[in-house]
Amino acid sequence: MHTDTPKNPLPQLRPVLELLADGEVHSGESLGAALGVSRAAVWKQLQKLEQLGLSLESVKGRGYRLPGGLNLLGAAEIRAGLQPPARELLSELLLCDRVDSTNAQLLGLLEQGGGHGVAMLAEQQTAGRGRRGRQWLSPFSGGINLSLGWQFSGGVQLLEGLSLAVGVAIARALEEFAVPDVRLKWPNDVWCRGRKLAGVLLELSGDLTDRCAVVVGIGLNVGLRGDVAAGIDQPWTDLHSVRPGIDRNRLAAALLNRLLPLLQSYPERGFAAYRDRWQQLDQFAGRPVRVISTRQQWSGTAAGVDESGALIVDSNGERRLFHGGEVSLREG
Ligand code: ATP
Ligand code: BTN
Repeated sequence: MHTDTPKNPLPQLRPVLELLADGEVHSGESLGAALGVSRAAVWKQLQKLEQLGLSLESVKGRGYRLPGGLNLLGAAEIRAGLQPPARELLSELLLCDRVDSTNAQLLGLLEQGGGHGVAMLAEQQTAGRGRRGRQWLSPFSGGINLSLGWQFSGGVQLLEGLSLAVGVAIARALEEFAVPDVRLKWPNDVWCRGRKLAGVLLELSGDLTDRCAVVVGIGLNVGLRGDVAAGIDQPWTDLHSVRPGIDRNRLAAALLNRLLPLLQSYPERGFAAYRDRWQQLDQFAGRPVRVISTRQQWSGTAAGVDESGALIVDSNGERRLFHGGEVSLREG
C-alpha cells in the first residue's frame, strides 16, 4: 500500500515507476498495456521521469530501462520490518513521492493537534531543511527523508540532548546493516569515514513550558547522484559508497524501531541514557576543533559532551561549554 497525501503531485507516475523499478528493459508497448494508456501517454510519463532527475535509458529497438533499478519506498514493506514497541507506537505512516519538506508537513499536522506518532517519508523533498535556514538536498529516491511527530507535556527542557540521542539511535540502526566507521559530529550530524552521511533537524511547536510537540527530521544519503551532490558545500557520503545494497524500506523500519521507543521514554530517561554511547562515537573527541558563531570563533580541543549534551571544549586550561542551536563545529 502506498499512502498518498494531498501534497503528492506525482501519483500518476507511481505505476510507471513501479514497473521500471526492476531495472529491466520494458517496451513502450508493454508499458502502455500494463498502465492501460496509449504509447504517446507512456512517452509523456517517461519524459516526466527525466524531470525527476532519473536517468532513463532508451535501448534501441527494445524499450526503456532505469539502469540499476529503483528501490522505492513502500508502506507494507516498512511495516513488515517494524517490531512490537514501534508497531504499537506508530499511529500513522505517510509516504509521499514529492513534498516540500517532511518536517514542514509534520509541523503543520502538529499545529492542528494531530501528528503524534506519525511518521512521514518522502522520495523527494523540494525544500528540505537543514539547520538555521540551510538546505538539505533530497533528490528522488536518493535517501531517507523521514520526519516523526511527538507530543510531550512537561516543557521543552525535557528534550535537552534529544538531537544527540537521535544521532545515537541512527548509528545503532546503521550498525544493524554493518555500515562501517559510523561517527557522530556534535550536535546533529552522522558521519562516516570523515564525511557527512546524515543530519538531524528537530523542530518544536506549542507551549515550550508545558504541552509541546517535536518533529524529529532525519535526512540520510543512500545513493546521491554526482550532479545533485555538486550542490553540497562540504564533504559528504552515501551508503552506496560505503555499504551498497541496503534496502531503504528495511532501513526506514530500523530507524523507526529505534526512534519511536526513544521518543516515548525520553522525558523519563533523558540524555543520560545516551551519553556514554554518544561519546564512544564522537568524531572529534580529543581533536583540535573550532567552534564558530555568527560573531566569534573559539579554538581548542574537543572533550566530549556534558550530561545535557552541551559540547565541551578545552582551550588554554579553560573549559567552555557550547549549546546546540547557535554554533557550528569544525575540525581545527
Ligand atoms: P553544523 O550543523 O555544524 O552547523 P552543517 O554545515 O552540517 O553544520 P547543517 O545545517 O547541519 O549544517 O546541514 C545543512 C548542510 O548540510 C548544508 O549546508 C550542506 O552543506 C549539507 N548538505 C545538504 N544536503 C546534504 C546531503 N544530502 N548530504 C550531506 N550534506 C548535505
Ligand atoms: C542538518 O544536517 O542540518 C539536518 C538535515 C535534516 C534533513 C531532514 S530530511 C527529513 C526532514 N525534513 C526536512 O526538511 N529536513 C529533515
